[in-house]
Amino acid sequence: MDLFEYQARDLFEKHGVPVLGGAVAETPEQARAAAERLLPEGGGRVVVKAQVKTGGRGKAGGVKLASSADEAEQVSGQILGMDLKGHTVHRVMIAPAAAIDAEYYFSVLLDRANRTYLAMASREGGMEIEQLAVEKPEALARIPVDALTGIDEAKAREITAAGGFPEGIADQVVAAVQRLWDVFVKEDATLVEVNPLVRTADGRVVALDGKVTLDGNADFRQAEHAGLEDEASADPLEARAKAKGLNYVKLDGEVGIIGNGAGLVMSTLDVVAYAGEAHGGVKPANFLDIGGGASAEVMADGLEIVLGDPSVRSVFVNVFGGITSCDAVANGIVSALEMLKGRGENVAKPLVVRLDGNNAEEGRRILDEAEHDVVEMVDTMDGAAERAAQLAAT
Ligand SMILES: Nc1ncnc2c1ncn2[C@@H]1O[C@H](COP(=O)(O)OP(=O)(O)OP(=O)(O)O)[C@@H](O)[C@H]1O
Ligand SMILES: [Mg+2]
Repeated sequence: MDLFEYQARDLFEKHGVPVLGGAVAETPEQARAAAERLLPEGGGRVVVKAQVKTGGRGKAGGVKLASSADEAEQVSGQILGMDLKGHTVHRVMIAPAAAIDAEYYFSVLLDRANRTYLAMASREGGMEIEQLAVEKPEALARIPVDALTGIDEAKAREITAAGGFPEGIADQVVAAVQRLWDVFVKEDATLVEVNPLVRTADGRVVALDGKVTLDGNADFRQAEHAGLEDEASADPLEARAKAKGLNYVKLDGEVGIIGNGAGLVMSTLDVVAYAGEAHGGVKPANFLDIGGGASAEVMADGLEIVLGDPSVRSVFVNVFGGITSCDAVANGIVSALEMLKGRGENVAKPLVVRLDGNNAEEGRRILDEAEHDVVEMVDTMDGAAERAAQLAAT
């Protein structure tokens, strides 16, 4: 889960990373009240910052200075409701303005390719770091971090030196980097990024912008993280699927996908997208993995979510029987359809089913006998993808 800047700021503060004050506002009036409180800390100025989970807000007009509570209110009125790269701004953060002397960059992340953690640091922060990495890779130091020792003081010194931070602030950066590592470990993050980390005119090192990604696999031991979820902008179908414990991701196509096993579902997305090219470019409408031992109820929940997606025009159920055999899955589909009718759902969209693997023949026989008019069986995965794409295009 990616956090908003204001949430990252709060986590930084909790772990002793130097930050400025900050307050969230959902209306210009709230922004005004927050500005009144924060103007003194900002030497008579505050910044109003759009809270959206996308980068480059400043360049897109989502970060603005204000020199009075009136102006903060007015600027917030402009930013709230703004569309930044497809994200609607529902909240702004009001922060005291900092007198910035220099802008730096620091991040630590999970480096999957190299099976380690990686710290990155640069004295050229502020601008888009992706651009710096391409245009001046030598200006962005990359320092592997061992998972067992982490960022202790010695490692923090190595990072600070490699990043080329000036001598005068080295001790402060060393301390901040260790606190940021605390955020990374104690909050179970996969990314902690500060851009910019600044030196203020009075020589302090402060994190002015933060980006944090939390590892959802650690939710079980991070009870507080549930409160950080952004229900307002979550996709309603994804939210419903999550409530039912389903592994569902909304995509923007027309062919609903249900499969067992993440790998099989991933390749199903590929074959459907490929088949769709010949049918006006129809695409998969979702990822849904109902898992290995899917019961009829899980199948019913899955079908309900997929059929409830208004952009779905056909559904491809792709199952490879393993521990859960195809006859069990077929019975699952039959009772799922009954269950849905019982729940008052209208099951009118065509369902293309491909069963293979353990007890496939018996599974097909069960579906045949049930004679559901929306269900159509196709023997091969490619053939089924083709048929589902064709049905979605008509
Ligand atoms: N509190 C502040 N006081 C003064 N200037 C600020 C403050 N916060 C941000 N700025 C300035 O605005 C610039 C952009 O701010 P910030 O880094 O928060 O957003 P961004 O980089 O545009 O967005 P993102 O990091 O999402 O791409 C900073 O590089 C800094 O120069
Ligand atoms: Mg930034």
